[in-house]
Amino acid sequence: MNSMKKLVVLTGAGISAESGLATFRGAGGLWEGYRLEDVATPEGWDRNPGLVLDFYNQRRKTALEAKPNKGHRILAELEKYFEVTIITQNVDNLHERAGSTNVIHLHGSLFEARSTIDETLVYPIKGWELKLGDCCEKGSQLRPNVVWFGEQVPNMEVALTHAMQADIFLIVGTSLQVHPAADLIYFVKSEIPKFIVDPDVPVVNGVDNLKSIAEKASTGLARLKPKLIQLA
Ligand code: OAD
Repeated sequence: MNSMKKLVVLTGAGISAESGLATFRGAGGLWEGYRLEDVATPEGWDRNPGLVLDFYNQRRKTALEAKPNKGHRILAELEKYFEVTIITQNVDNLHERAGSTNVIHLHGSLFEARSTIDETLVYPIKGWELKLGDCCEKGSQLRPNVVWFGEQVPNMEVALTHAMQADIFLIVGTSLQVHPAADLIYFVKSEIPKFIVDPDVPVVNGVDNLKSIAEKASTGLARLKPKLIQLA
């Protein structure tokens, strides 16, 4: 019998910041060096697929060299006390490498390619490079299997189901600027405990029982862990 409470965690780029992966917004963020429209939209891909491939190749290379940090590890350790579901906006695989076993990638994965004519054809990417001329079995160019602005978020439905069933909800390292991910908190039961760990806590209006810990993921989660265990 599984009597563990259900802890659902929404993570964003901030959880991987201490692994050396850049966040998107703010000083030094990825959107300072690139135009989002160029590298994270279907229109950008149509205009210049080479630039888009380069952008994700660089990110894949950096992600392969990065290691999970204490924040990822604490979330993995919480599986001893809770049934943990991680809903991540990140396309890296640091949660999995830290040992988390139940990770939903809302925005896709850097380590998968998919066909541009048949979205059901998805392939693992070996190494760090996806090139112009790399094709699916039907002969069309492969693209990164990531969700771009203006595209559907296929995993949103399963993420919503988990959020609605949560006994505790935790948000780590996301500015909550991107929808629909940012809407998940509004589907969580109002009476359950909710926490946000972020050095620059985003404003969330109209949500009950929400506590903020204005710290980095590593230290904030270390502080929160014993409190969570008390609620287990
Ligand atoms: P953002 O860059 O918008 O926000 C990162 C958040 O992490 C901010 O709230 C920071 O304060 C916080 N942060 C920074 N360092 C941290 C640390 N050490 N520990 C904890 N938090 C820290 O990134 P996301 O909210 O993840 O989508 O962005 C959401 C989506 O926008 C991304 O998935 C991506 C992007 O455009 C697509 O590309 C589709």
